[in-house]
Amino acid sequence: MEQMRDAMKKIQGEKRFAHTLGVAETASRLAAVYGADRQKALIAGLLHDCAKPMTGEKLLDFCKRHGIGVTEAEQKAPSLLHAKAGAYLARQEYGVEDTDVLNAIRYHTTGRENMSLLEQIVFVADYVEPGRDKAPRLAQIREMAETSLDQATVWILEDTLGYLEAEGAVIDPASRRTLQYYQNAAKKSGEK
Ligand SMILES: [Fe+2]
Ligand SMILES: [Fe+2]
Repeated sequence: MEQMRDAMKKIQGEKRFAHTLGVAETASRLAAVYGADRQKALIAGLLHDCAKPMTGEKLLDFCKRHGIGVTEAEQKAPSLLHAKAGAYLARQEYGVEDTDVLNAIRYHTTGRENMSLLEQIVFVADYVEPGRDKAPRLAQIREMAETSLDQATVWILEDTLGYLEAEGAVIDPASRRTLQYYQNAAKKSGEK
């Protein structure tokens, strides 16, 4: 754990490293709230952005060299690949073998349908960690994260997609699928 922390400190700038620590701490805390494995949450949080320092060009090249499939959206917005490349590095460079931890890293940007508890915790922690301050509904989403990960996931994706749409940026269809899935999930649990 110490080694992972030091490695991240070395490869990430000050701001990104602060974000990394924020995500690790938040994920570990949410794991305690929801009964997930705190150690795994901490590791996934520490490593989730381990490939983020790579440029888009480097990420595309990295994925090609290591046989990591690149989707159309990722081709257009290669920075999306830091999640997949990060999972690869977590395994090869940092010795993580746990599939759940690797998936939490792999899906932290877009989420996916039917995420595991750990995956969802890391996805939410990435957005609500204390260093974030720009998103408009942050206070509301932070509060929701304590009681419903499904509803927090819906709001995070609504706001992220809304922002990307307004910017005219590339939207990964995986994010839309995740949103749709959790809109249904949140509705169902609201009906119970
Ligand atoms: Fe990320
Ligand atoms: Fe992040």
